[in-house]
Amino acid sequence: MYVIAHLSDPHLDGTEEARARLRRITSYVSSFSRPVDVVLVTGDLADHGLPEEYAEVASELSLDVPVLVLPGNHDVSSPLRTGLASFVTSPGEGHPVHQVRDVGGARFVLVDSTVPGADHGLISPDSLTWLDGVLREPFDGPLFVAMHHPPLNLRHPVMDQWKLEQQAPLAEVLTAKPITAILTGHVHTAITTTFAGHPVLGAPGIRSTVPYDFEPTPTTSFLDPTAHPGLALHVHSPGEPFQTTFRYPL
Ligand SMILES: [Fe+2]
Ligand SMILES: [Fe+2]
Repeated sequence: MYVIAHLSDPHLDGTEEARARLRRITSYVSSFSRPVDVVLVTGDLADHGLPEEYAEVASELSLDVPVLVLPGNHDVSSPLRTGLASFVTSPGEGHPVHQVRDVGGARFVLVDSTVPGADHGLISPDSLTWLDGVLREPFDGPLFVAMHHPPLNLRHPVMDQWKLEQQAPLAEVLTAKPITAILTGHVHTAITTTFAGHPVLGAPGIRSTVPYDFEPTPTTSFLDPTAHPGLALHVHSPGEPFQTTFRYPL
């Protein structure tokens, strides 16, 4: 059994509020009687992409298990690469921060879906060529594609301004590839859907939750900052269907 603790969107900004919400999740994961095989954090690690925020991210994610991170639209490539050098293995400099990481028999293809200075997502033609090549490499084991922006329309008037653009060419690359699941963040809500024939599993938002606009919120914002932070637990067992649960520890 292979267990992924999938976290997303801690948006650390030096405040006790943000730090406490992330610690609720990391302390929960650290309390398991069986260590998870990997912790994956799908972006918006820092709220403003500042070096001091990445120092905090590095400190809070110093866990006893492997930790993988990728950038979201609130992150900035260069300070992320510098501040999280012990977590990130990506060729080149600056943007994009693509990674291929093998952890305990599973492969994680961590795709940088961000556009510098913008909130929407886009995977450039060059990045799609890179991704296609990676997914054509022979690999015997569960393979996950992870990115910040989920390939879907959330049907939310605010979040869909910041969705992943140009989804069709990505679907072309992903179709018929041996992908166990696509793991995402950004929309601050637990998501299960499909894309290009694969499961898409989005982790809940740690910093806040985005309800649909027809759901109640405690403020006039589209965000609910009072909702419990959560995480996804993905479990892979050879010969069994892939399985996900969502947890909102108190
Ligand atoms: Fe976010
Ligand atoms: Fe985001």
